[in-house]
Amino acid sequence: MRLFLDTADVEEIRKGVELGVISGVTTNPSLVARVKRPLKEVVREICALVPGPVSAEVLARDTAGMVEEARQLAAIAPNVVVKIPITEEGLRAVKALAGEGIATNVTLVFSPNQALLAALAGATYVSPFVGRLDDVGADGMEVVRTTVSIFRQYGFSTQVIAASIRHPMHVVAAAQAGAPVATLPYGVLMQMLRHPLTDVGIERFLADWAKVGIAPGS
Ligand code: G3P
Repeated sequence: MRLFLDTADVEEIRKGVELGVISGVTTNPSLVARVKRPLKEVVREICALVPGPVSAEVLARDTAGMVEEARQLAAIAPNVVVKIPITEEGLRAVKALAGEGIATNVTLVFSPNQALLAALAGATYVSPFVGRLDDVGADGMEVVRTTVSIFRQYGFSTQVIAASIRHPMHVVAAAQAGAPVATLPYGVLMQMLRHPLTDVGIERFLADWAKVGIAPGS
């Protein structure tokens, strides 16, 4: 399983990559708007920092516009993946981009059927939004589980990215569901790392060692 960061904040990405656990990044228009920088400039900087795929979303809603924006985004760096919403126009764009060898991440996926259509159109990734489904009283992770099992059954190469991850247990559930990727906010990455018993344990080890009076490293 791989972990991506779901952010356009370059400092967060730098810190995540330094930890050695982040192998890709996903962004969306809301996340890029938050950092108040031009999209292409941010994508270029992120692509230079991250060894793996970096998803950047189109804003156009018609097929021709999506394809044109996708070509421009893909020209920024070889690791750009173009995020396309799951609509009729989006599916047509995914098909056209697959024909041009441009990687896509089909986004705003809320059902296994939408994910299946994206895979059939030639998507590289699909992103079921787990947290947003949970928000409306549905079982978001069930969409991930079912989609992973359908893709496995038919040998689709499309990879599931568990997205809209809100807390560490979403990551555990995505891993159990067999999702090849989960994309998470930096805050959730830190929550995964920290445990109060780890902090207490370190303090206790240091205190015990200090009692002996021998210098550390001797
Ligand atoms: O980037 C797509 C997705 O992860 C958004 O998450 O928290 O805005 O539902 P959220």
